Amino acid sequence: MHRLDKKVVFITGGNSGIGKSSAIEAAKEGATVVIADLASVNHEATIRELNDAGDKNALFVPIDITDVESVKAAIAATVQKFGRLDVALNNAGVGAPYSGIHNMDEKIWNKIIAINLTGQFYCVKYELQQFLKQGGGVIVNVASLAGLVAEPGLAPYTASKHGVLGLTKNIAVQYGGQNIRANAICPYYIETPLLKDLNANAREAWIQRTPMKRLGQPEEIAKAFIYFASDESSYCNGTIMAIDGGVLAG
Ligand SMILES: NC(=O)c1ccc[n+]([C@@H]2O[C@H](COP(=O)([O-])OP(=O)(O)OC[C@H]3O[C@@H](n4cnc5c(N)ncnc54)[C@H](O)[C@@H]3O)[C@@H](O)[C@H]2O)c1
Repeated sequence: MHRLDKKVVFITGGNSGIGKSSAIEAAKEGATVVIADLASVNHEATIRELNDAGDKNALFVPIDITDVESVKAAIAATVQKFGRLDVALNNAGVGAPYSGIHNMDEKIWNKIIAINLTGQFYCVKYELQQFLKQGGGVIVNVASLAGLVAEPGLAPYTASKHGVLGLTKNIAVQYGGQNIRANAICPYYIETPLLKDLNANAREAWIQRTPMKRLGQPEEIAKAFIYFASDESSYCNGTIMAIDGGVLAG
């Protein structure tokens, strides 16, 4: 008996970092996992890892979360293949180059908001449609500690992640009575390929800012995802969990 037996779990950005770790943990917990990621990613190795973790039906579906038709098609392909969708981890996202707000390139602002916020909305919209049809479901949104406090130099990222928390709270209050729960995870810096796009020189400062004096590992976020995805969190709705080595406490 595993915590996600018979659950169909859909993970955006499931081919890398936090999404991939979450996919592997979900497979170990008995889930059927769909990794939804850009068509360009090399997903075969991830599918093999999911097979090895116990999910022989693991599926890759291409998605670009900035394209609403692509989001619709990815969720439809999941439901067509497995008949339902129980849990969605809306995790795909990108970092931003450091910049002042006064001299920020509007293209960068628009790109970060389009992926990290509007893209999450597109996913949530079509996940909710399926949940309403089948009588319930669970959404877990990946925000960031920058959804709770400012990250200087990363204004569009900070704004997008604050937006993700607003979206999560709205789902929680609007659909909580329909057997739909939505919660959010706010990681501090986690060792994933995303950190390559951020300021590498800042790494030591991030570590020093953390009471635990280390960055997080993707598996440490995946464990929280499993809690929110499973019935163990049955009364969590609109819950925002910071996983930050103690940064927020300081
Ligand atoms: N790594 C960190 O320090 C950290 C901290 C806080 C929050 N987060 C958040 O966690 C989430 C996952 O980040 P990660 O660190 O695992 O990054 P990552 O770069 O390892 O993985 C991100 C995944 O998202 C996919 N992706 C990017 N744009 C996409 C799009 N338009 N459509 C579909 N898929 C797309 C990528 O292909 C990749 O597989 C992001 O939302 C990120 O903002 C990360």
